Amino acid sequence: MREPRLGVLSSGKGSNLRNLFSRGYRVSAVGTNRPGCGAAAFARQQGLRLGEFSQRRYPSSLARDEALSSWLLQVGVDIVVNAGYDRILSEPMTRAFAGRMLNIHPSLLPSFGGGMDAVERALQHGVKITGCTVHLVTEAVDAGPILVQVAVPVLPGDDTQRLLQRIQAEEHRILPQAIDLLWARLGGSPQIVQETTVV
Ligand code: GRF
Repeated sequence: MREPRLGVLSSGKGSNLRNLFSRGYRVSAVGTNRPGCGAAAFARQQGLRLGEFSQRRYPSSLARDEALSSWLLQVGVDIVVNAGYDRILSEPMTRAFAGRMLNIHPSLLPSFGGGMDAVERALQHGVKITGCTVHLVTEAVDAGPILVQVAVPVLPGDDTQRLLQRIQAEEHRILPQAIDLLWARLGGSPQIVQETTVV
């Protein structure tokens, strides 16, 4: 079984992207809506194929995601990984990559889904255990089937940064596991049913 070609989407610092790259995953494309972010800088530095999809370049989120999915299909990615992408993906993406798109979220879903402040919210609620989750992306935000999930205890004196740091250490462990699991489930099949037009 060959390795999957990954399309990684990120708007942030890109620690999950770096982790996948350093573990030898084949990152065929990095998509971002924030050309100035750490993930984009890393992609440029490593000579990875980088696609910039800033919302202001498109009349709607639908148009943006049509462009994004056409690009990813053209590159020929097998699995799309949302690793800190801060836009909700619309139908052109969820349809083109149904069953082949993962998201990593820094909480024990279904708790604290739907937003980029899951760690702050968990602390505010005073939960004693939180964690991170990798799930398949569907149209329902942060609610697709869970592939891998791990608990992280909240320790006395934790602030957002300290807790996030421990959660991210787990993210860097479970995201590769989830990719391997999904790829095995797909039978290592590169076949993508292309329902969108490739331009
Ligand atoms: C991660 O904590 C992930 O769970 C969330 O966004 C963050 C991305 O971190 N969706 P990084 O940019 O990969 O460091």
